Amino acid sequence: MKVERKIHISELKLGMTVNRTEKDGLHFPFFDKELTDTRSVNVLKNSGVSYIYILEEQEVEEDKEGELSGRLSQLMSAPLETSDYFLIDSSPAVDDIIQARTIFENIRGKARLLLDTVKKNGRVDSHSAEEITGELVEVSTHKPGIFTAMTHLKNQDDYTYSHSLNVAVISLALGKRLGKSSDELKTICLCGLLHDVGMTRISEQIITKPGKLTEDEYSEIKKHPEYGYKILNNGVLPPETATVALQHHEKSDGSGYPFGLHERQISNITKIISIADVYDAITSKKAYNHERTPSEALKILFSWSGKHFNETLVKFFINTIGIYPVGTLVMLDSGELGIILEPNKKDLTRPKVLVVTDEKRDRLDKSHIFDLARYDLKTMKPIKTIISSLNPKQHGINSEHELDRFAGQFKNTVREAF
Ligand SMILES: [Fe+2]
Repeated sequence: MKVERKIHISELKLGMTVNRTEKDGLHFPFFDKELTDTRSVNVLKNSGVSYIYILEEQEVEEDKEGELSGRLSQLMSAPLETSDYFLIDSSPAVDDIIQARTIFENIRGKARLLLDTVKKNGRVDSHSAEEITGELVEVSTHKPGIFTAMTHLKNQDDYTYSHSLNVAVISLALGKRLGKSSDELKTICLCGLLHDVGMTRISEQIITKPGKLTEDEYSEIKKHPEYGYKILNNGVLPPETATVALQHHEKSDGSGYPFGLHERQISNITKIISIADVYDAITSKKAYNHERTPSEALKILFSWSGKHFNETLVKFFINTIGIYPVGTLVMLDSGELGIILEPNKKDLTRPKVLVVTDEKRDRLDKSHIFDLARYDLKTMKPIKTIISSLNPKQHGINSEHELDRFAGQFKNTVREAF
């Protein structure tokens, strides 16, 4: 992209391209072309103008012209005062997070009831399972902002119930990214919801056991795919649900269980569910595990792609969740800490963050939103950049509480404004 730069006439050299002079109406035939002869340079130097405007190629780091002009126009149309960064009412994400939580809690209640029923009578109520997945597909289609916020909601104290729903939501998000039809999305979502239904046959003692499992306990856990297949292969639910339950611990390189299938033998829906399953397991606090940050989980998934998972699907998954998923705690080059609030689809490294500390890491009384897509007009560099993702526990920050606190703060601001 060529940009105009004003220089003193004494700086004019061969090889430069002159666009215009400071005097309107003064035009030479060698304008807009690279100056290749000293005669033209001398003509301009003797024309009596003090300043001229030359055209230069703007160096932009690995950026596409379209994206840059998009960012520039966004930046130019906004006021440049610092206070502009505090315009919280311009972000739909805050409202989406509040709504997402309400919808998610409601659906989670239904998922809990569904699994409790399976535990009691060994059968899946297909009607309520389809009702849950229907609602999720509906939200993902008509309220995408709310759905995005839902992909990071978790209740860490309630893994067994939350996991099924989380996997349903995350698989659905990946299915959408893969361009699946509405019917296919319903099936994917249903498979995600029911993939671990066989766990209802495993004793609570083993599931919630803190510390390492014995060999016997582990081989009991490893039976849950077959238990799940038996529960779901009932001629009522779509047959894909039973296949996914049976295959979801198989791995591309044949190192999984129960059959050691290879990639070509694993169903396509299973490949989607397996990625969502492992991602949720790594990012959740289980009885025998510590949760990892979403960014760490993505790195782990990526390192396993090709071995455990389909490589292309993992790439799509990372693209779906974002390099920095919503809720991730990050450090900015300013020293401030922030929580990812809203992904930037054009540039995954430049989401909107909720800044919760100052440069010295002291907690702010009022957190505020900062859009990392903002560029400094003078330097043409981003104003702030993410340096790394952090473990919230090590910094005494609970992302969910911070988002809640901000949501409350946001509500108060709106109330005060009216
Ligand atoms: Fe499982």
